[in-house]
Amino acid sequence: MCGIVGYVGQEQASPILLDGLRRLEYRGYDSAGVAVYDGQGGIRVVKAKGRLQVLSDLTQEGTALPGTIGLGHTRWATHGEPSDVNSHPHMSQRGKFAVVHNGIIENYMELREFLENQGVTFASQTDTEVVAQLLEYCYNGDLMATVQKVLHRIRGAYALGILCRDQPDVLVAVRKDSPLILGLGEGFNLLASDVTALIRYTRDVVYMDDNEIALLSTAGVQVFDAYLQPVDKEPQRVDWEISAAEKGGYEHFMFKEIMEQPKAFRDTVFPRIVNNRVVLEDLSLTPEEVRDIDHIVIIACGSSYHVGMVSKYILEKLLRKPVEVALASEFRYSDPFVTERTLCIVISQSGETIDTLAAMREAKRLGAKVLAIVNVVGSTIAREADHVLYTWAGPEIAVATTKAYSTQLAVMYLVGLYFADLMGRIDSNTYDAIVCELLRIPSKMESILENKEHIQYFASIYFNHDSIFFIGRNIDYAIGLEGSLKLKEISYIHSEAYAAGELKHGTISLVEDGTLVVALASYGQLFEKLMSNVVEVKSRGADVLGLTTQRLKESMEKTVDATMAVPDTHPMLLPSLDVIPMQLFAYYVALMRGCDIDKPRNLAKSVTVE
Ligand code: AGP
Repeated sequence: MCGIVGYVGQEQASPILLDGLRRLEYRGYDSAGVAVYDGQGGIRVVKAKGRLQVLSDLTQEGTALPGTIGLGHTRWATHGEPSDVNSHPHMSQRGKFAVVHNGIIENYMELREFLENQGVTFASQTDTEVVAQLLEYCYNGDLMATVQKVLHRIRGAYALGILCRDQPDVLVAVRKDSPLILGLGEGFNLLASDVTALIRYTRDVVYMDDNEIALLSTAGVQVFDAYLQPVDKEPQRVDWEISAAEKGGYEHFMFKEIMEQPKAFRDTVFPRIVNNRVVLEDLSLTPEEVRDIDHIVIIACGSSYHVGMVSKYILEKLLRKPVEVALASEFRYSDPFVTERTLCIVISQSGETIDTLAAMREAKRLGAKVLAIVNVVGSTIAREADHVLYTWAGPEIAVATTKAYSTQLAVMYLVGLYFADLMGRIDSNTYDAIVCELLRIPSKMESILENKEHIQYFASIYFNHDSIFFIGRNIDYAIGLEGSLKLKEISYIHSEAYAAGELKHGTISLVEDGTLVVALASYGQLFEKLMSNVVEVKSRGADVLGLTTQRLKESMEKTVDATMAVPDTHPMLLPSLDVIPMQLFAYYVALMRGCDIDKPRNLAKSVTVE
């Protein structure tokens, strides 16, 4: 989604803004722009559709836009097509205000109509421009009071950066339902929608909360509530290295992150296993509260939802309690059935996905306890949940998630074992066997990654297929969902995942000569059933690529065209191994098709609009 960066200090602002925007590129965008106060009574704006390089060239890397205070923005179009004029920053008609915005102003039509009736002329089709025009319309010489007045008139979700020509030594930042972070420096201060834009300049940050307004100057940062009363905010220290958000010699972030999975899994799991027991010191649920849970609802979007799908099978098996998995965007509008004995597990890499956040708030409102599994420390979901377990994957930059998926799954194993133990649902032999295998997963992941050329070879055979089905049963089906999403989001090949038994209830009509079917068969007890489905699609002309375990490989090879095999492990943990060939296959197919892997079309890393 859109990215915001703002700077006030003694250095030239434009190069810093461009650098910050570069670090936000991964979020997905279609245009970019900067606004800088020129020191002579005017705000200069340069903005352009397309890659950041276009903006960089237009401003000669920022040198053609002098000034020490400014705002930058990368836009992911919602209202109005991607174009130069619809890009941010937006100016008010007399040039008094420049505004950058993430989110959606829901009542922009009525505000636009009102302002047009007052003689205001709009330049763009965006919802954001109404904020700039309204600021100018309401301006009475008191900047903060004007901002407050405008906030009373607008509805929706917004993170705003505001620069006023009449007070060119301050930036105003506003947050409601869209993340905004303040970066604290010596003699300078920053604002950004994402910590990655700040980390090169400062590690001391303040996470803004909803309905807060901040005033940034060279001298410092003040935060106010909606009534303009000062709020005391505790600065937080960001401890990850800047190199973690850089490619480090890899061609793509996605590939780097695939390769980082053994380490991410280790970092997430190993510190939480002490003397072969799962110890969740960071979990604030008491043993009594855990024992009291009678129903679990997992809520998430996209790949995080797919982790939920896998987890349903695992948790139900371990806990013998009902586990539902809900798409966050559906949950909040479905009059969900939850009680105070329900545990809602919310999964989100970014911790900012608006649907997941809204669903979590609804679950809390209905009285459920909420446990969030989140990667980004200090994110909104992490701060608002009752309980949090972090996935220590490090910053994930590629739009297509890989290491976050793996670490979310890892945390779910830990939660499953921990709860099962407290609930008295697991015998010690099974517990010990799973923990023992859990510790071996990273090295088994490494052995798959060492043989990646094998999967690259399959990708080179199948990359030209236009339609790919993933079929599996139970957990294999849930992994197929992720395999299919990975493939379609970065390679743009039409793909669907099906519970294999469902195929003959309709979808098999689409299978014809040249359709590729990826058949997942990791589980012995369902192997024969799945192989019958493989025979059905083969007899209709499909090419079949199988994914199974070393133990079952030989049996699978007899029927399919090609086989990928992962090391054997405890059945509950197989998803952690199975998903890696799926990720690599999607990556290599996209590479061979010449796709922009880290910035797939139409997609954003963090989806902060509904
Ligand atoms: C996966 O590759 C996606 N980019 C996407 O489905 C993602 O998992 C989804 O948007 C949820 O994001 P979150 O985990 O940050 O909430």
